[in-house]
Amino acid sequence: MEKLLLIDDEADVQYSFRRIFDSPELELHTASSGEEGLRLIPKIKPDLVISDIRMAGFNGLETLRKIRVLDPKLPVILMTAYGTTQTAIEAMKLGAYDYLLKPFDVPKLKVLVAAALKAARDMRQAVVLQPMLEAEDYESGVIGRSEAMQSVFKLIGQTAATDATVLITGESGTGKELVARALYHFSKRSERPFLAINCAAIPENLLESELFGHEKGSFTGATVQRVGKFEQCNGGTLFLDEIGDMSATTQTKILRVLQNGTFERVGGNQPLTADVRIIAATNQPLEDAVANKEFREDLFYRLNVVRIQLPPLRERKEDIRLLVDFFLRKLAGPGGRPKSIGEATLAALEGYHWPGNVRELENTLRRATVVAKGGAILPSDLSPEIEAAAQVAKAPIATTTAKTSETTTSQPTTGTDIASLAQALFRFARLEPKMKVLPLVERELVIEALKETRGNQVQAARLLGITRATLRKRVEKFGIRQEVTVH
Ligand SMILES: Nc1ncnc2c1ncn2[C@@H]1O[C@H](COP(=O)(O)OP(=O)(O)OP(=O)(O)O)[C@@H](O)[C@H]1O
Ligand SMILES: [Mg+2]
Repeated sequence: MEKLLLIDDEADVQYSFRRIFDSPELELHTASSGEEGLRLIPKIKPDLVISDIRMAGFNGLETLRKIRVLDPKLPVILMTAYGTTQTAIEAMKLGAYDYLLKPFDVPKLKVLVAAALKAARDMRQAVVLQPMLEAEDYESGVIGRSEAMQSVFKLIGQTAATDATVLITGESGTGKELVARALYHFSKRSERPFLAINCAAIPENLLESELFGHEKGSFTGATVQRVGKFEQCNGGTLFLDEIGDMSATTQTKILRVLQNGTFERVGGNQPLTADVRIIAATNQPLEDAVANKEFREDLFYRLNVVRIQLPPLRERKEDIRLLVDFFLRKLAGPGGRPKSIGEATLAALEGYHWPGNVRELENTLRRATVVAKGGAILPSDLSPEIEAAAQVAKAPIATTTAKTSETTTSQPTTGTDIASLAQALFRFARLEPKMKVLPLVERELVIEALKETRGNQVQAARLLGITRATLRKRVEKFGIRQEVTVH
């Protein structure tokens, strides 16, 4: 259970917090003064502190300063009446997580508390790499024994002692955020704050101000000065997620911080400095964005000092069993009994191509543990696509779908091959009414045609006897990705 400590001398505020945060997942503690709050922190070890600014005795700012000494990573949200925003800004410079204006807007407060608790979890929960994993670390492991993952672990270890900028790339769901947190935990800044910003989730025109802050009146809506994440995170680590989605001005500013550690707030002209380590991630091919002049080349090289490329799950299928074991234990929860899984189900999981990577595997298992009737997960508890893909992998034609670079040597498909494939598929379809035989065969044919023509859609369409538009629709419908089909 997560713990929230409210420091406020007004009984009304304490009362409304008790009502707003009446949840079994959150334990609310209250203190009526800064002194009392500071006494409570070592005892209850809260995950988040929300403190009023104006109080008798230590005011909120002094309390914040002392909390920073006690625990530099504990997120603190300050509350202030409108007249005292200047103090709130001071608070942000001192590393407060954020501030709230009183009277507060309840939905906004809830969103902010959820975000701060997530930040607290990111900072507190050490991420353990597979080779060091203990049985009880089922919450926070980076799993993988494949060669590709071992290189990832090695790189994490090698950069641990440095402040080098790291660029993490990989398809969606391959574990970029997880690796970013691991890098932070193994770094020499692990006792300092870690803040994650999803560049794609913030409107482009606001991202610059979110990162660097703005001066009052610098744009419509900028009614008060705002301190950006770089200032707030001074001494810590900033995780810039989805870095491919930044405007040209933001890119230029980030480049400057990386080069000489200085920046200005939006609408300001006073150069500010920040000592921040940057970890960036993207699932877009940044090299292409550079070639298309959408991403600054010099910034790319600055970010790409250390590159961690996460492999798609289909290229490290030997890790699937480990991941399954890990997720089943995680899903069972502490002390819970994990569901078991048989060889047939494991084979089905290993036969699938996992376009959504580890996230998709985790979600598949989450769903399967709910659907499974007994103590074991059966192939029929998986989605029809996964089950079907496994069946095709076993069928004779599958030999030509193996992912090797020399698949272009076309083997003439004989009538017998097709007949035996059909037999296999029908046998399976009788057992599993959810399986759709035709789309499955179609999908494999489209993949093969694309492989055969090295991804040339015009030629592939001609081979299949369909129009290019139809081919494109099939590619989309079946979620076929070019990387899979072109080698
Ligand atoms: N190697 C791994 N071991 C254990 N869990 C993993 C691993 N890789 C990913 N996961 C889990 O899979 C989920 C997705 O990972 P994460 O959010 O890090 O992916 P991502 O690469 O950032 O994806 P996106 O590009 O969609 O943001 C998370 O729940 C994460 O804990
Ligand atoms: Mg991510």
